[in-house]
Amino acid sequence: MSYDTIIKGAKVVTASGVTICDIGITNGIIVTLGLALENAKNTIDASGLIALPGGIDSHVHISQPSGPGIEMADDFKSGTCSAACGGNTTVLPFCLPEGPQSLRKAVEEYQDKALGQCMTDVSFHLIIKDTDSVTLGQELPALIQAGYTSLKVFMTYAGLALTDRQILEVMSVAREHKAMVMVHAENEDAINFLQENALRDGKTNPYHHAMTRPIPVEREATHRAISLAEIAGIPLTIVHVSNGEATQEILQARGRGLKVFAETCPQYISLTAKDLDQDNFDGAKYVCSPPPRTSEEWPKIWAGIEQGAFDLFSSDHCPFRFTSITGKDAPGARTNFRNIPNGIPGVETRLPILFSEGVVKGRISLERFAELTATNHARLYGLYPQKGAIMVGADADIALWNPEKSKQIKQSDLHHGTDYTPWEGFQVTGWPVRTILRGLTTMLDGEPIGEPIGKYLFRTAPDVCK
Ligand code: URP
Ligand code: ZN
Ligand code: ZN
Repeated sequence: MSYDTIIKGAKVVTASGVTICDIGITNGIIVTLGLALENAKNTIDASGLIALPGGIDSHVHISQPSGPGIEMADDFKSGTCSAACGGNTTVLPFCLPEGPQSLRKAVEEYQDKALGQCMTDVSFHLIIKDTDSVTLGQELPALIQAGYTSLKVFMTYAGLALTDRQILEVMSVAREHKAMVMVHAENEDAINFLQENALRDGKTNPYHHAMTRPIPVEREATHRAISLAEIAGIPLTIVHVSNGEATQEILQARGRGLKVFAETCPQYISLTAKDLDQDNFDGAKYVCSPPPRTSEEWPKIWAGIEQGAFDLFSSDHCPFRFTSITGKDAPGARTNFRNIPNGIPGVETRLPILFSEGVVKGRISLERFAELTATNHARLYGLYPQKGAIMVGADADIALWNPEKSKQIKQSDLHHGTDYTPWEGFQVTGWPVRTILRGLTTMLDGEPIGEPIGKYLFRTAPDVCK
């Protein structure tokens, strides 16, 4: 047999274990996993490296409308370049209609923005903010049918938050047409109440963003979202879970036999609300929702990562420039934390942080790392078995890792469009040194290479929704 490419001698992380073998690739597909493969146009010596499934980051925000005068720092070009440089081969950003725009039109325009720009494959989740009869009765069913098989609903943010009744209506469409619902679980009324009180007391700096979104706000909404999903009879994914109490809600729901899945992110094992408490507005760099908690929550999140409460480890990459009035330094942001755009960058640093803190520190196995960063994303969002695992028949989406490479995370090494990283100076061991998308190298030794070959992925219904 002859191959386009053979990757030789890596420690390969497959669903059935970790084994040193060669990977034979033809036409962008893994065709052989075996020993002493020969006869290829291109051979990659990967001895001493680990071959992991290319990362799938199923929670990123790219070129998303963010309110008047506010601009996201990444478009598809920079966002997917950053993703590829961080060992990713697929990302799933969110398509949000702007103002009164229809969902269908928003998807068309978002497709246009992505076309020909991407260094990873991409596929869109739909954000549902309007529940009129055209959106829910016509556009959403047609889009799910066309392969947009996941959607996100918000329980917070003015203009996005849906009522419980609206969430049930969306869930009912998802049930009928077999799509995965993702929920942002924070109680909007409670947040508004706390924020208005804080501002009345002169508490205006970024720290109060965290203080007015305390754990009960998230725990209550998590419980409510799960109850709504139970009533609607659908599986549910709770995204960006930040703390132990919300994790307990998820575990209790599973104990009752519900299909509830959960995602957490690097910020909830490595940042705290104290990071928002800095004098010179630097705290704005860490403003995201849910906010980072205390370091006492980290072991609770780790327990969930280690023991299976979490299915997904995503970045929630949501980049705004720190030094720009279109970003964190928006008009009024220095005098009122409510005006600071929510979100932090992290698509390039997600995998190294989990590898270093999880695998290198002995908390999780390589197989669990692969599940949390690729396989489960593919399974829950309808991309498996084409994506998410190193196995015969799958796309040859592979990241080669040097498990010994020690590095301090630095903004100057990253490729995202924003001007800072929340992890400046964070020490990691293990870094991806080559990213391979459908058999072609997209990153080598920390720099992007080649043309933007990423394509759009239309998805099937996730197995758990069938
Ligand atoms: O603060 C965050 N996480 N911004 C991104 C939007 C979201 O809720 O995921
Ligand atoms: Zn969210
Ligand atoms: Zn998000």
